Amino acid sequence: MADLNLQAIHDELVLVAYEAGRMILSANPADIGTGTKLNSVDIVTEVDQAVEKMVSSRLSTAYPEFSFMGEETYKPGTKLGPEPTFVVDPIDGTTNFVHSFPNACISLGVAINREPVIGVIYNPYQDLLFTAIKSHGAYMTRIKGSTPQKLPLATSPRPLEGLANALVAIEWGSNRDGPNYELKTEVFKKLAATKETGGAMVHSLRSLGSAALNIAAVAAGQMDAYWEGGCWAWDVCAGWCILKEAGGIMAGGNPGQWDPAVDERKYLAVRGAPSGQKELVEEFWGVIGNGAMDYSV
Ligand code: IPD
Ligand code: CA
Repeated sequence: MADLNLQAIHDELVLVAYEAGRMILSANPADIGTGTKLNSVDIVTEVDQAVEKMVSSRLSTAYPEFSFMGEETYKPGTKLGPEPTFVVDPIDGTTNFVHSFPNACISLGVAINREPVIGVIYNPYQDLLFTAIKSHGAYMTRIKGSTPQKLPLATSPRPLEGLANALVAIEWGSNRDGPNYELKTEVFKKLAATKETGGAMVHSLRSLGSAALNIAAVAAGQMDAYWEGGCWAWDVCAGWCILKEAGGIMAGGNPGQWDPAVDERKYLAVRGAPSGQKELVEEFWGVIGNGAMDYSV
């Protein structure tokens, strides 16, 4: 394992991502088996399962010594270990997929010592590929075969100037009641509200419907931050590597957590900038106040 060729693994993941993209595009959402997991908004389809099967069989043939953590075969309670692990969401944005809303992707991450070291995210609807290898930068390829653009897209990213100047990604998630939901909706309200009423009055809030695509957009510098609680290691692992390689930071979704684990389930991603990252995180945590999301059960 000592001399792992990260470039070769990355190249294989890109091929796998394009194959997954073909499977996703060839499925007619009106015609596929759809089921639910936690509740009626936590959706899984036959295509999610078929893509994961294809991915795990290709990767276990090519890299039999790696562990595999995939959303559709995850055993509850399993933690991400230190051994090289593929961390895979076959379709991130399944709700978009079943509604034919063209914003879903496959998210392929590799973690070693619990650190994301490769990330490949592919949205086949837009033929949009995001990739990164630790210490080798992050890239976005708009159309297969075209020249990759280095991330962030701006050659001189603007300083971050607080929440009042920020475009922030949030997600509703699938838990729609209880303390986590109450806290989230309260924070959404405060982020949007005027300063006069105690809010931060961000430029606006966005939900791409996919954690991986939200993080990729932050890495690209198209959004300033993304806050989420409730998603999983496979939603963030690939994006995490891309974000860091693009100069961004991943803080915790709860106040005070500067160094979250990949499977922490609560995150605050902030784009690369010459200044203002730490201040934006602290200002965000101030909006959360004394609250804290808890996804331990
Ligand atoms: C979901 C999406 C969504 C996020 C949820 C995830 P799925 O993943 O990433 O944006 O808010 O927490 O579970 O179900 O589409 O794979
Ligand atoms: Ca998924």
